[in-house]
Amino acid sequence: MAHRLRMTALAYLLVAVALIVPAALGQGHGCDDDYQEDGDRTGCPGSSHDTVEESCHLLNCTWCPTVPDTPIPWCYVSKVGVGYVMVGEPINSPGGVRVELQRSAGRTRWDNEAENLVLEAEFQSNGRLRVKITPATGPPRFEVPIEILPPAEGNQDPLYELQFENSPLFSFKVIRKATGTVLFDTTVGQKNFVYADQYLSLTWSLPSENVYGIGENEQTSFKHDFSANKRYPLWARDHTPEGTVNIYGVQPYYTVLETDGNAHSVALVNANAQEFTMRPGGSINYITIGGVLDFYFFLGPSPENTVQQYTEAVGRAPMPPYWGLGFQLCRYGYDSIANMRAAVDRTEQYDIPHDVQYGDIDIMLRRLDFTYDPVRFNGLPEYIRELKAKGIKFVTILDPAISIGEPPGSYETFDLGQTMDVWVKRADGTPTQGKVWPDPPVYFPDYSSESTKEWWIYLIKEFHNLLEYDGLWIDMNEPANFIDGDVNGCPGNSLNSPPYVPPIFGGTLWSFTLCADSVQAAGVHYDVHSLYGWFQSEPTLIGTQEGTGKRALVLSRSTFLGSGRWAAHWLGDNFSRWSNLHFSIIGMLQYNHFGVPLSGSDICGFNDNTTPEMCQRWGQLGAFYPFSRNHNAIFNQDQDPGYFGPAVANSTRTALRIRYNLLPYLYTLFHLHHTRGDTVVRALWHLFPTDQVASGIDKQFLWGTGLLISAVLDEGQTSVQAYFPDSRWFNYYDGMEVQTPGQTVQLQAPLDYIPLHVHGGNILPTQDPERTTLLARNNPFGLIIALDENQSAQGTLFYDDGGDTIDSHTVGNYYLAEYEFSNGTLTGTVAQNGYAEMATKRLDTLRLMGHTPFRLMYVNGNPWFDYTVNGATGEVTVLHLQLPMNLAFTVRCEP
Ligand code: GLC
Repeated sequence: MAHRLRMTALAYLLVAVALIVPAALGQGHGCDDDYQEDGDRTGCPGSSHDTVEESCHLLNCTWCPTVPDTPIPWCYVSKVGVGYVMVGEPINSPGGVRVELQRSAGRTRWDNEAENLVLEAEFQSNGRLRVKITPATGPPRFEVPIEILPPAEGNQDPLYELQFENSPLFSFKVIRKATGTVLFDTTVGQKNFVYADQYLSLTWSLPSENVYGIGENEQTSFKHDFSANKRYPLWARDHTPEGTVNIYGVQPYYTVLETDGNAHSVALVNANAQEFTMRPGGSINYITIGGVLDFYFFLGPSPENTVQQYTEAVGRAPMPPYWGLGFQLCRYGYDSIANMRAAVDRTEQYDIPHDVQYGDIDIMLRRLDFTYDPVRFNGLPEYIRELKAKGIKFVTILDPAISIGEPPGSYETFDLGQTMDVWVKRADGTPTQGKVWPDPPVYFPDYSSESTKEWWIYLIKEFHNLLEYDGLWIDMNEPANFIDGDVNGCPGNSLNSPPYVPPIFGGTLWSFTLCADSVQAAGVHYDVHSLYGWFQSEPTLIGTQEGTGKRALVLSRSTFLGSGRWAAHWLGDNFSRWSNLHFSIIGMLQYNHFGVPLSGSDICGFNDNTTPEMCQRWGQLGAFYPFSRNHNAIFNQDQDPGYFGPAVANSTRTALRIRYNLLPYLYTLFHLHHTRGDTVVRALWHLFPTDQVASGIDKQFLWGTGLLISAVLDEGQTSVQAYFPDSRWFNYYDGMEVQTPGQTVQLQAPLDYIPLHVHGGNILPTQDPERTTLLARNNPFGLIIALDENQSAQGTLFYDDGGDTIDSHTVGNYYLAEYEFSNGTLTGTVAQNGYAEMATKRLDTLRLMGHTPFRLMYVNGNPWFDYTVNGATGEVTVLHLQLPMNLAFTVRCEP
């Protein structure tokens, strides 16, 4: 109140004007009928501050005055079209339906609007529906050259139905037949439906605001917030994850948890610059500036089913090499082999598990791909061999751009690129020139061209003769460019300066990347920009497999729909900030929806200096990322887990040893992804879709169905609030059952401890940890058996040579065991016995949680006494079983 009294008369006047003007002018007579919030307006091309209403209309723009003397345009680009009407009746065919549309009459702002459209729906399977809208006539428009794989299931009994209406304009609905739930309804946006050459827009309402996904942007909650009109621009860009800024990848894919617990997901196969606005009331406004409208609906009905169906369409991730699930250490700015060695040695000194060592661009000679610096990294090839002898693998980085400044004949990468004509071109046919790593100037390979793929694969294979890498990391593939466009700038044309640009960072399509009118084999950069990393990923995987002769790891910064077929993803240049621990869980859960299960963020943070406490907590959390890598930026202090001394080192070791203990389970989850499309890490609502509380939990996450991770994410905390849906949960460390399921519980979590719970109903295969997976793979196996309320549990173990064979699923040289506990008996059966080594391996220990007291134990029918019962928790530990892994067995507990 006191504050208010001090307001001047002028301030009162301004407030009054601000309150009245939008009401009086905004929605009233002064305005055309597509009033837009101030911040939403894009000034009308050709208009100025002096433009009046009449000339604004002549420019085909919307007129809507607001507060005088503000930079907010009064004459602005209209987002509204005039809609379409249906012509005739829908034409049904056995596999789908076709609808013809005609543009409704009236004025519109957008040039080159399609007069006639065709909507074609394909009932691809019972769970998969495609709806594609294209102009009926005219030149073909750009379509993403993605391979959509055929579904295994038929379409005899679709879970969906489509409805079309003209009321008064065209709209369509996708309905879940079983419940009548309308999953997708464009009625709300009848008039917003625009299909112009460079502006396509559609608005649809959703059945629930439990919406997850759309990327890549930093998201601060997994579940979208519809209250704030949040806009997510998508256009691949080298930018730190901050706010809703468009960053490295483009993932136009979202999942909806319906109010009754069913789930569906939607993929929009479009790569142009685009945006999603999450509108109050639960609708999405979608705008893209090219391509076609091509929607795929996946009907679930369970959350896991949506990911299974989606990845069946776009492809699933290959099995990672077993070592790829081990702990990985990296930094940008080791700057010398001595520093790299020091970090490796510190890790060893504290006996911290360590499977992969990285070399970033500072190992290169002047940051030239396929080189290393023989002075600063003198002896690197020998050092890599030394690491390998200890079981530590080596991964190094490749940036896409290639230096054009090396003396002719001295740099094969460039010379061969010239001969094979591999570059992205300007519109005039000369190679696009930019400035980025390596030292400028550079050309950009066009990975969509066959000759570029051939060139790249050849170089990767050759490179293995220089540095014996085990995997490759492809970075800066948005593609990043430290100047805007080209050294010559970008010509003024409708590709570089389209009539509408989504709210992407930098404001232009060529900001920090190539000119949009650059030319690639797959199309103009305007259309294929966001596919740059996607096109690069497959040849990188092929080259890496051919170079090593083994299963390889490819890590890509830029991704698009289906990238998971070839590459893993880390969440980019995050910050050493506490908030980023939370955001990393969200990003990793999203990428599991996107079909890229091998994901995680830079542990301890990339940008800025971390603190020992943050690094200690992050080391615990990161031990449960599917992709677990500590990475750091140049000029920061070191942050490898040994650097901060015993406290951080010891708790990182403890957490990683738990990870390594559970690696057979984690590896099996990748098998379930690879063969069935399951997520590896998932949110609680995947298991408890009707639990309202679970739908909003994004600080805890699960490995598969079996392990709940509830890490401390905040500074100075020694306890954590953890939600346990109504089910059985057992403390991983001692088997103590959570006494109050269905509630949020305050868990004690001292600095050196991460709360972990095993979910009743699951059997988790384990193997004792070592410093590397190479060693751990020799250890005996164990099983953690957590019983559900019916005293039963199930589990699977997938095992193979860990990656000596590129694709053991196809070859068949793998091992698959099924475990079942019911009626007091654990049964182990071998479903596939293709990995001969299993005959030499033993199942030694069982941890049985949640069993009612029993009197006698029998192993394969013989009495067994080598077990202990924890009096406080009831956990039973069975030891020294020595059961051959290749044989079936039973363990019976007799009451
Ligand atoms: C980019 C990458 C980062 C890498 C650095 C140097 O910023 O995102 O991970 O360390 O380039 O290569």
